[in-house]
Amino acid sequence: MPTSRRPDPARSEGALPGAPAGSDLLELGGIPLRDVVLDPRVGTPSYVYDLDGMVGDARALHAAFEGAPHLVSYAMKANSAGPVVRALAEAGCGADVVSGAELVLAMRCGIAADAIVYSGVAKTDEELDLAITAGHDGILAIQAESVEEIARVDARARALGRTARISLRLNPALDADSLDTHRHINTGHDEAKFGIPLASIPTAFAAAAASRHLTLVGLTAHVGSQVTATDGYLASARVVFRVAREARGRFPLRFVDTGGGFGIDYGAGCPVTPADFIRATRALQAEHGLEDLMLGCEPGRSLVGAHGVLVAKIIQQKVGDGGRRWLMIDAGMNDLMRPALYQARHRVVPLATTTGEPTATWKVVGPVCESSDDFGPHELPEAPVGHVALLDAGAYGYSMASRYNGRAFPAEVFLRGGRIVAVKERRPLADWVDDCLAAR
Ligand code: LLP
Repeated sequence: MPTSRRPDPARSEGALPGAPAGSDLLELGGIPLRDVVLDPRVGTPSYVYDLDGMVGDARALHAAFEGAPHLVSYAMKANSAGPVVRALAEAGCGADVVSGAELVLAMRCGIAADAIVYSGVAKTDEELDLAITAGHDGILAIQAESVEEIARVDARARALGRTARISLRLNPALDADSLDTHRHINTGHDEAKFGIPLASIPTAFAAAAASRHLTLVGLTAHVGSQVTATDGYLASARVVFRVAREARGRFPLRFVDTGGGFGIDYGAGCPVTPADFIRATRALQAEHGLEDLMLGCEPGRSLVGAHGVLVAKIIQQKVGDGGRRWLMIDAGMNDLMRPALYQARHRVVPLATTTGEPTATWKVVGPVCESSDDFGPHELPEAPVGHVALLDAGAYGYSMASRYNGRAFPAEVFLRGGRIVAVKERRPLADWVDDCLAAR
């Protein structure tokens, strides 16, 4: 989480415009973000991440299991930058992957095959083969999302002369309104494409039991993202545990996995922590007499979201009829898609603020030719110049970025121990032009 402090006079040389003497500087990971963007490798727009913060959150989540057998499978789609995945691997996380590429990346970042689960409704044959053969003995479990997919995993395992471990991702058919989240990230209702419908569980059990090439080792569900109350999550966990009780006499179950989705505070508050979800889920697991099974969860956003910011430069101001004010910045919906896609709100904060400065409401917008390239109204200085940070952008930011409108992917900067430990520079715009001309 960014904090702010008075600048160190020794470092104020080369200050950016917008950082007058006596101002507070926005910091991340113990470094003023102003100093980060001044690094010649960085510039804007840039994502900056505090790896220590991510590792701290991962450790806090592990602690919530109080030594009970568990697996925290980091949902790599939230942020798949190598330094992030490596840091979370070192903090004891496994991975939830959703493509062959994510699977390869997880293993290259040091995550063992038997700490990887693979979700997704349409895995290709090549991806299934990769999952079945990864490491010595394949990944922990391919999370089958339909009865039809069980047959496909069986066919691939048979073709390879292997046994594949599977888990069943259940669709708990929750009421679509039971999770207080955006409809695009609500996945546990019966109109969603995800998971095996409850009515098909007997068929799924029969298919798993009939195959010599499949071992059913787990039950799982994931019902949505940015969930800010435990009720819906626990309703889903209850379904997983009920089905696990039915399965345990028939199959060599190793785990139950209640998914990710733990919400974070984007500024409007979030009354529950990831540890609250885990504590309540463990109590429910015990009520069902399933404490001997490993409890899995698949957090993405909650490990990385609050520890990343998107830093942008103010390009210009525009004052329209009726005094409407727009602040144009050099980051757009192509860099951070969440506001355009889910009407998500990310706070916009100047890198330097002066106490008592008059403020005004600015509509912060990017350079992309779409009306939805709009980060919403924000209270900012009367005449903002310099740089701003869009907060809580560590999850589903860079990983969803595009090059729409001939724009480069933003740079990425990784902080640890109060210093920059790695930088991925922005690709030159010539790459985009070359790509457009690459057809032969
Ligand atoms: N497990 C599965 C099977 C998932 O599909 C997801 C996220 C997660 C775990 C991790 O969920 P988390 O803990 O991050 O909430 N782009 C959207 C979020 C999409 C989530 C997709 N699935 C956003 O920016 O809000």
